[in-house]
Amino acid sequence: MLEGAGTLEVLISETAIRARVTELAAEITRDYAGRDVVLVCLLKGAVIFASDLARAIRLPVRLEFVRAASYGAGRVSSGEVRIEETDGIDRAALASAVAGGEVLVVEDIVDSGRTLGRILSHVQDLGARSAEVCTLLYKDRNVDHPFGVRYIGFRIEDRFVVGYGLDFAERYRNLPYVAVLEDRDLPGV
Ligand code: IMP
Ligand code: MG
Repeated sequence: MLEGAGTLEVLISETAIRARVTELAAEITRDYAGRDVVLVCLLKGAVIFASDLARAIRLPVRLEFVRAASYGAGRVSSGEVRIEETDGIDRAALASAVAGGEVLVVEDIVDSGRTLGRILSHVQDLGARSAEVCTLLYKDRNVDHPFGVRYIGFRIEDRFVVGYGLDFAERYRNLPYVAVLEDRDLPGV
């Protein structure tokens, strides 16, 4: 039994996620036909989405990782985004994969968009031939992002969600569905 997960409201079921991942992968397979794709997965939240997505894409795929931190242990963005690709990740390998490559940044959720903005400019600095974004979730906050998000799994309201890679203080990443975390679900709140 998943600790504390029994009471959470399921927002997107495992079945719905699976179906949507299959659709997104089919779209990517069509759009990138004849090309190799470099999936740049944002650690840690996108790791589960990226691994399902990668297996459903019918093209040669390279899998790279980047770590960006904008949230601490709380539910509100600190506003500061740091890229930490040297943290156990080979900076040179990332640079050579991205240079001249068709890059698809895989993200768990676009909230303020600060994380993605930062990652996309980094990928462009490394000389990507193209750079697009595939996100599982997109929070509708009427924010104008300076970049396009080409592939969106699900648009959701501005609520804090966990599961399928998304965490609260490193918990709930292994839920196979996406659930809403309310204040009443928090221990000691
Ligand atoms: P942004 O830079 O504000 O777009 O924030 C993106 C990052 O914040 C994501 O990669 C997540 O790690 C985290 N995040 C934003 N919203 C949520 C949420 O509802 N649940 C869990 N993590 C979130
Ligand atoms: Mg997170």
